[in-house]
Amino acid sequence: MNTIESQFDKVAEDYDFVNELLNDYSFLVSNMSPKKGRALDIGCGSGLLVEKLASYYDEVVGIDISNQMLDLAKSKRQLTNTVYLNMNAEQLNFNEKFDFIVSRTTFHHLDDIASVIQQMKELLNEEGRIVILDNVSEVETPPTYVYKLGAIQEFLPHCFKFGIKNAIRIYNHNTSKSWLEHLASDKYLSEQNYYDLYEKLLPGCQFHKMGWAMGVVWTK
Ligand SMILES: C[S@@+](CC[C@H](N)C(=O)[O-])C[C@H]1O[C@@H](n2cnc3c(N)ncnc32)[C@H](O)[C@@H]1O
Repeated sequence: MNTIESQFDKVAEDYDFVNELLNDYSFLVSNMSPKKGRALDIGCGSGLLVEKLASYYDEVVGIDISNQMLDLAKSKRQLTNTVYLNMNAEQLNFNEKFDFIVSRTTFHHLDDIASVIQQMKELLNEEGRIVILDNVSEVETPPTYVYKLGAIQEFLPHCFKFGIKNAIRIYNHNTSKSWLEHLASDKYLSEQNYYDLYEKLLPGCQFHKMGWAMGVVWTK
């Protein structure tokens, strides 16, 4: 079986190692909701963003469908105000609302973005905020050689920044069969797709184009 969850189960340890070194959460943190009650991270992976949000919010819930990712989150980033749940983003199931609902590099895995956004809006407190950051690409599924070339180009800068041992581990993950197979199944929205889709679903939202990523910010 080659489901999204099994793909992430396979790469969880290395994904966590690489993303702890490389990920930049500053856009998400600088766009947090004014009220700091409850936050929800959809597709929380190994809990890197949940851990950051936990210094600002009373409670942060992270949901994901990969048990391996969730196990890493629980063993490495469990705090007194964090909760990790195995829950599918397509079927959000909460009794209490949130002030901040955020998602990083997960929306391109969803089958029905419109339905998920509708559920997120219903789960959001008044004046609450939704922030989605996801890949943007003019090519729906970039060919594998693009990722291989990228890994080669980044190797030397990573050696200087993180040391040779870490740079080799990053390179090995980025060019591994499991990761490249996963990327080959990804489908990204173009810049215009973002404007067309999200302006309809989240009227008046702000768009922030940041290289490979698009940020969407909407306040209720
Ligand atoms: C590229 S990772 C991003 C992880 C984390 N947000 C980060 O930035 O490090 C995508 C995550 O979304 C999760 N995911 C994919 N589809 C999902 C769904 N339908 N519901 C919940 N999580 C999902 C995957 O298991 C994976 O952990």
